[in-house]
Amino acid sequence: MRTQVAIVGAGPAGLVLAHLLATNGIESVVLESRERDYVERRIRAGVLEQGTVDLLHQLGLDTRLRREGMVHRGIELRFEGQSHRIPLSDLTGGRAITVYGQQEVVKDLIAARLEVGGQILFGAEAVSIDDITSTRPLVRFRHEEQIETLEADFVAGCDGSHGVSRSAIPAEVLQIFQKDYPVAWLGVLAAVAPSTEELIYAYHQRGFALHSMRSPQLSRLYVQCTPDDQLDNWSDDRIWSELHQRFAMDGWSLAEGPLVDRSITPMRSVIAEPMQYGRLFLAGDAAHIVPATGAKGLNLAVSDVRVLAGALADWYSSGRTELLERYSGTCLRRVWRVEHFSWWMTSMLHRFDGEGPFEHRLHLSQLRYVCGSTAAATSLAENYVGLEQV
Ligand code: APR
Ligand code: PHB
Repeated sequence: MRTQVAIVGAGPAGLVLAHLLATNGIESVVLESRERDYVERRIRAGVLEQGTVDLLHQLGLDTRLRREGMVHRGIELRFEGQSHRIPLSDLTGGRAITVYGQQEVVKDLIAARLEVGGQILFGAEAVSIDDITSTRPLVRFRHEEQIETLEADFVAGCDGSHGVSRSAIPAEVLQIFQKDYPVAWLGVLAAVAPSTEELIYAYHQRGFALHSMRSPQLSRLYVQCTPDDQLDNWSDDRIWSELHQRFAMDGWSLAEGPLVDRSITPMRSVIAEPMQYGRLFLAGDAAHIVPATGAKGLNLAVSDVRVLAGALADWYSSGRTELLERYSGTCLRRVWRVEHFSWWMTSMLHRFDGEGPFEHRLHLSQLRYVCGSTAAATSLAENYVGLEQV
């Protein structure tokens, strides 16, 4: 098989890239190791930045997003039994976030791609990426028990944090920056109307909690746990008890409902530098991971492929290589800004092992400052809705 751009992975990064390339008349084939059903059901985060929504709109991929997505113009920070609203839109010239599950984005992107005859091969696991310093890089993949090859002008490694693309970059070239936070989130989906209109980020001496949502009938809740925690340690009663305590506020109550999904996500930061080598370009989780606190993973993936698509379009139309050569440098400026923001939100909102009353008061002081100072609140808000320039 041969194509112009071989895309490994049908997550948000690979799928948005396929769409962007198509609008520039560039052909691609997406290889996805899992089956379509699995990819469309995988529950992930659900906050889209203004820029991500704008891009989906430009691509004509926002029909269902506009109907079902929930536009939020603020978030709540809750601590010491009180809620403080950060008015995101007022502080950012009208920008907002949209709450819409990542798997819904993925469903929309797959359907729209297949509808126009775009090629996505499910059950096709890339096993190696070869000849990346030549002009004919090659992806070897396993499909229906056979090893097949896909030759291309370029390869986009969009295969997430457990993929193979990153390891195709020689170890002596690649630098990995990593931080494992000593905290994790137990996330549940509860079949009950959200108890709040806007997201609530709660800091409590017992630890962090987050109230998010997926629809008017579905709440998405998270409670801080430890990275080595097991789901077996968390009965439904314990989950609800911790959530009630951490969100507690006079005159407000948390509605309970059946838990329909649960998982544990450790908080991690990982950055691979450079994000390119020869004709291989990494994008999204294949190149970097952010802790979930800033809700940035999907948005950062989309921002990478926007840069990549622009650079590839420039190469195909004019043969210029400058934008392609600058790909990694351009992306990494945003990656590090977002890593910093996610680290800062994580540090402010969680309780860490060994912390005592001194650190507790520092958390509270920081939170009061963010809520009380327009300058500090604006800093949070502009990062949260997504910076236009970095
Ligand atoms: N061959 C083909 N596909 C692969 C391979 C492989 N060897 N390895 C992994 N994949 C697929 C995965 O099954 C997945 O569907 O690559 C896809 C990567 O998608 P994501 O993990 O969603 O990563 P990305 O597109 O970068 O999106 C980033 O995803 O992890 C979340 O929170 C993160 O929201 C962020 C977003
Ligand atoms: C989610 O809805 O899954 C979500 C929302 C906000 C976050 C992280 C996850 O910061």
